[in-house]
Amino acid sequence: MIKTEINKLRSFRQNTDSVPESVKPFIRWAGGKQNLVSKLSENLPKEKFCSYFEPFVGAGSLFFHNNFINSKLSDINPHLINSYISIRESAEEVSDRLAFYKERVSEEYYYKLRDVFNKRKNHFTIDQAAIFIFLVHTSFNGIYRVNKKGEYNVPFGKAKPAIPDSSHLLKIQSKLKGAIITNGMYEDILTNVKRNDFVYFDPPYPPLNETSFFQHYSIDKFPNKQQIELSEYARELSNLGSFVMISNAETPMIIKLYKDWNIKRVSAYRYVNCKAERKAVNELIITNY
Ligand SMILES: C[S@@+](CC[C@H](N)C(=O)[O-])C[C@H]1O[C@@H](n2cnc3c(N)ncnc32)[C@H](O)[C@@H]1O
Repeated sequence: MIKTEINKLRSFRQNTDSVPESVKPFIRWAGGKQNLVSKLSENLPKEKFCSYFEPFVGAGSLFFHNNFINSKLSDINPHLINSYISIRESAEEVSDRLAFYKERVSEEYYYKLRDVFNKRKNHFTIDQAAIFIFLVHTSFNGIYRVNKKGEYNVPFGKAKPAIPDSSHLLKIQSKLKGAIITNGMYEDILTNVKRNDFVYFDPPYPPLNETSFFQHYSIDKFPNKQQIELSEYARELSNLGSFVMISNAETPMIIKLYKDWNIKRVSAYRYVNCKAERKAVNELIITNY
């Protein structure tokens, strides 16, 4: 885990005048919600909320689409969080590094950079952030996966990756200004949630079936036991008086876990097997309001 960052300006409100309205995420991410972002945004609480918590932030589709104040973003993936912090602190430097790598993109160069990234797998520098962003954009299906030694092992996938340019990263930087960004398990940040805060949970999804190659379409390990624990946390927050929204797959277990919540079915396009093709699947937007 990289050192947890605590923002001292707890009551800082983002300056919405200078924050761009809606920005695309800076990274491709398995299970990313970019194609559901309008439907998710339509389902935000209608009432005013205090702080925004997103503890499975991934590519942050919902966060970057909206202008939330007092945001707390976190994820278990330390390299992902290093890239958020690097862009927030030094967007121009990340952008210069990315432009350098983008000019050289090829299959051979991808594997060379993958080796560099793995040799420095415990480093959390600006250059490591740029390599991480480059690799995920250029990899097969935009996946981040590591082997037992913790080495990134996804094969080359895209000869023309959509690497974010400097104007895009500056907009991302502006959105991240004032946000508290931490690396850790989702439970870690929930102790700070209060009544009238809003928490959006987008956990890795359970498998569609036991043999599905991608465990549905997420590669993160988040077994049923954790889905059950998460539903218990969500219930506690709901009892506390917080607003809670959860995205999840339409499986019998998830429907049963949230049977007394409000559930909406929406359609999304996802990779559901090892082939590079996306299929329409039903997903759920679950709320306590
Ligand atoms: C479905 S993705 C989130 C996608 C995101 N909403 C987006 O639009 O890109 C799930 C995320 O949960 C993270 N994750 C997995 N297990 C976790 C845990 N126990 N605590 C916190 N984050 C976790 C993964 O690293 C991944 O980024």
